[in-house]
Amino acid sequence: MEIVPAIRKLRPSATLAINELVVNKRNKGEKIFHMGFGESPFPVHERVRRSLCNHADKKYYAPTQGYLALRKQISFFYKEVFNLDYSPKQIIVALGSKSLIFHALSALDGPLLLPTPSWVSYQHQAYLIHKKVIYVQTSPQSSYLLTPSLLLASLEKTRLDLSRQKLLLLNYPCNPTGQSYSKKQLQDLVPILRKNNIVVIADEIYSLISYNNQEHHSLAEFYPEGTIITGGFSKDRSLGGYRLGVLLLPKRNDDVKRSILSIISEIWSSASSPIQYAAIEAYSPDKEIIDYIERCTRIHKIMTNYVYSRLQEARISCVSPKGGFYLFPDWNDKKDVLRKMKITTSKKLAKYLLESYNIATLPGSEFGMPKKNLCLRLSTVDYDGSRVLDEYNKNSSDIDKNPSDFIYEYAPNLVIACNILNDFTSSLNSL
Ligand SMILES: Cc1ncc(COP(=O)(O)O)c(C=O)c1O
Repeated sequence: MEIVPAIRKLRPSATLAINELVVNKRNKGEKIFHMGFGESPFPVHERVRRSLCNHADKKYYAPTQGYLALRKQISFFYKEVFNLDYSPKQIIVALGSKSLIFHALSALDGPLLLPTPSWVSYQHQAYLIHKKVIYVQTSPQSSYLLTPSLLLASLEKTRLDLSRQKLLLLNYPCNPTGQSYSKKQLQDLVPILRKNNIVVIADEIYSLISYNNQEHHSLAEFYPEGTIITGGFSKDRSLGGYRLGVLLLPKRNDDVKRSILSIISEIWSSASSPIQYAAIEAYSPDKEIIDYIERCTRIHKIMTNYVYSRLQEARISCVSPKGGFYLFPDWNDKKDVLRKMKITTSKKLAKYLLESYNIATLPGSEFGMPKKNLCLRLSTVDYDGSRVLDEYNKNSSDIDKNPSDFIYEYAPNLVIACNILNDFTSSLNSL
């Protein structure tokens, strides 16, 4: 069978591929320290689990936009939690925010400005629909954030028509860097976005996993007319496998809504009905659900800060995390030594660590970084989420004060992985 040449070039998503590799190795009995895949490990909240069971007989196709009851609940949730006003009419529910981002990119005209490093799928989604991508390389000196001067420089360099629409994908807190934007940093971008006719897809899937919860601001607060928010419960409620995501449109954008709904209706019809009913429970902004999200977030913060502090101990260059469960360190200052070991790209570095030390990571090149930049994405979720959450529920105040014993006992893989990374890095100093 012959394959379309452009599709032949595609490979399965790097994050899913590394996970399969690790599962295969583990099935063969190999001990692997998995810093490659970012799936939040906590158990499904009991109320959500029960609701899903109770709605197993909801077997009918749902409306393409999602059930009204769910959209009302999401509208209420965004008001209560983020103080953002979105009516149910402005909300679309579909199969994961990944598909919603793809459909928004497909529906909206104009080239895509993509700050890098950025999540693996954006560039491949753009490739699938032949959308021109303009990469905007950020740097660790500016915490891998898009600054007004970087944005202006890339607009000038590419000489894009000022009046023609452009798209920008902003993801904060960011996968892979763990960085996020302050209120001021978002506000500073707005005049440039307005002036240059830029529509922003704000991927806020990690918004509730902000280490200082109060600090999360949405670009939609300052640029409501030009921001499309995407999000969901895959990360903060550990429900990635439920495959449900949300998209919030600015007011008076019926054309965009109609276009996205047309695409969804031709491909998926709708998100699964029982899952939508369970989502009504998951999107209840009551104390119990919010408390569950906050506890999971505090654990992510403890684990990610632990790995960060261990990297610092070994003087591995890394920007301190602000949210999510990822870190993006680099070994660029060890380039010369690594070259002697024939490690000249981030891919080779990741391969070396997996083959020699059984640590799975993802190379920075998968996130749009130059191949020779020796950066890796580490995720910090290789532990048993049920045990960890149980223990944290029992002893949270002690653990918050002194998390070391908790980490040593309940997340030993993280501790060993840090030991190995540090030993590897120190060994480079003596070469
Ligand atoms: C930055 C980012 N955006 C979007 C997604 C997609 O999430 P979902 O499709 O589960 O809503 C992910 C998940 O891996 C992600 O890391």
